[in-house]
Amino acid sequence: MNDGSPMITGKRILVTGVTGWVAGPLATSLVGNGNEVFGAARFRDPSSRQPLESAGVQTVSVDLGHGHYDEVPSDLDLVLHFAVAKADNFDHAFAVNADGSADLMEIAAARSDRFQAFFHCSSTAVYAPQGREPRTETDLLGDSHRPMPGMPTYSISKIAAEVLVRYQAKRLGVPTVIARLNVPYGDTYGWPLFHLMMMERDIPVPVHVDQPTSYTPIHADDIAASIPYLLTLASTPATIVNWGGDEITSVEEWCGHLGDLTGLTATLAPTEATIPAIVPDLTKLHGTGFRSSVGWRDGFRRMVETSRPDLLKS
Ligand SMILES: NC(=O)c1ccc[n+]([C@@H]2O[C@H](COP(=O)([O-])OP(=O)(O)OC[C@H]3O[C@@H](n4cnc5c(N)ncnc54)[C@H](OP(=O)(O)O)[C@@H]3O)[C@@H](O)[C@H]2O)c1
Repeated sequence: MNDGSPMITGKRILVTGVTGWVAGPLATSLVGNGNEVFGAARFRDPSSRQPLESAGVQTVSVDLGHGHYDEVPSDLDLVLHFAVAKADNFDHAFAVNADGSADLMEIAAARSDRFQAFFHCSSTAVYAPQGREPRTETDLLGDSHRPMPGMPTYSISKIAAEVLVRYQAKRLGVPTVIARLNVPYGDTYGWPLFHLMMMERDIPVPVHVDQPTSYTPIHADDIAASIPYLLTLASTPATIVNWGGDEITSVEEWCGHLGDLTGLTATLAPTEATIPAIVPDLTKLHGTGFRSSVGWRDGFRRMVETSRPDLLKS
């Protein structure tokens, strides 16, 4: 039952990155309420379409890196763009994350007379780290993810994506919001779940030498609930807004909590070769009226109960 919070109803919506962590549960949550929900990815594993189709999401094949947009539906109201390439070379990262975002905006808007808004999922990875000082949307950008193994292009290509999306918003007159997401997690996914698996295997969990390694995790329920609020910020020129949960915690603290829930112990490994703390200032998000409702302790318990009930202490 709806508690009076705003909802998306009666829209044709394309959600990209739908085989990924964040967009899959989000797309599924939009099904119903008169919405027609399309989910885009490359679907190189065809079996990944089935759970989405069963949940009412119509899957369409799109390849942002190779200009394959034939299946982008016409007459869309909204695009919620979450697809991302976490690539080890800049050519591919720029092609998918930057050029692909710009192409998608242009094609979706050109195929619809009723196009209302483009939602671009960015990341607080675009900020230059500054300890635990909350970062506002106008703070300096930087390459926070370069030290993280496997993420050498991430921050810079997400910045490049923002630049092209902003440019397209202006050029095409498409109302756009760019939301810089902090640490997403849900009952079935997320960085903290990854940490739990490391704890299970006695693999040391990297934390930054400048401890605590603080973030503002946001649960999938709140990710879904915040979208209608965030869409109120869609504008031309584009609006940029930080996106996270209300509570600040840290990798150190959440591994301790995961230990309390399971009896496992995390070995913390302070290093420069990981992502430093990034705490977003959420004033602008809260100005939309949105406040997160799932506290991280409850959310992490739900995550363990759903994904690894076998590890819970009785
Ligand atoms: N995960 C985090 O902790 C985090 C934190 C902050 C912000 N974000 C942002 O949140 C969004 C979702 O991240 P995520 O971690 O959920 O992503 P993910 O799990 O890595 O999934 C990436 C998605 O993008 C699709 N994709 C990759 N290359 C593509 C291409 N060339 N053409 C079309 N689709 C392509 C993938 O599908 P196929 O491989 O099937 O094509 C997949 O559905 C991203 O914008 C990310 O930057 C994530």
